Amino acid sequence: MEINEKYELVLKAYNNAYAKYSKFNVGALVILKNGDYFLGANVENASYGLSNCAERSALFATYSNGYRKEDIEELVLIGKSDEFLYPCGACRQVILELMMPNSRITLFRLDKTYKKVYVKDLMPFIFSERDLDAK
Ligand code: THU
Repeated sequence: MEINEKYELVLKAYNNAYAKYSKFNVGALVILKNGDYFLGANVENASYGLSNCAERSALFATYSNGYRKEDIEELVLIGKSDEFLYPCGACRQVILELMMPNSRITLFRLDKTYKKVYVKDLMPFIFSERDLDAK
């Protein structure tokens, strides 16, 4: 997918955010290898702790529709930040389980500037399914 289209789609997700408490919109876009995609936005709740981040919304939509990590080409994010908006700690844990380590994440600023990082660079020393099998 071309970079302008990624920006337009992830901005659409950003504008769909239900962020009535924080007023902080975040948009996410999962692009599949087959060219399909899923949008995700943060969805908040009056019981604040029940709020869901954009990254998890997009990845859960992807999995809910039957796709798995092997099907995912890339995750795209957009949010307001002086630097770039990086996924929160909870989302990093989820991203590391639901995406391949060598997949890319494109981080957009609102002004369309962007940078790319690898999933595997998000977090060292992770807890994963392997730990559950430890003897
Ligand atoms: N948020 C995300 O959606 N993704 C992140 O990586 C950081 C935080 C949301 C959660 C909450 O709705 C709002 O941004 C403010 O924290």
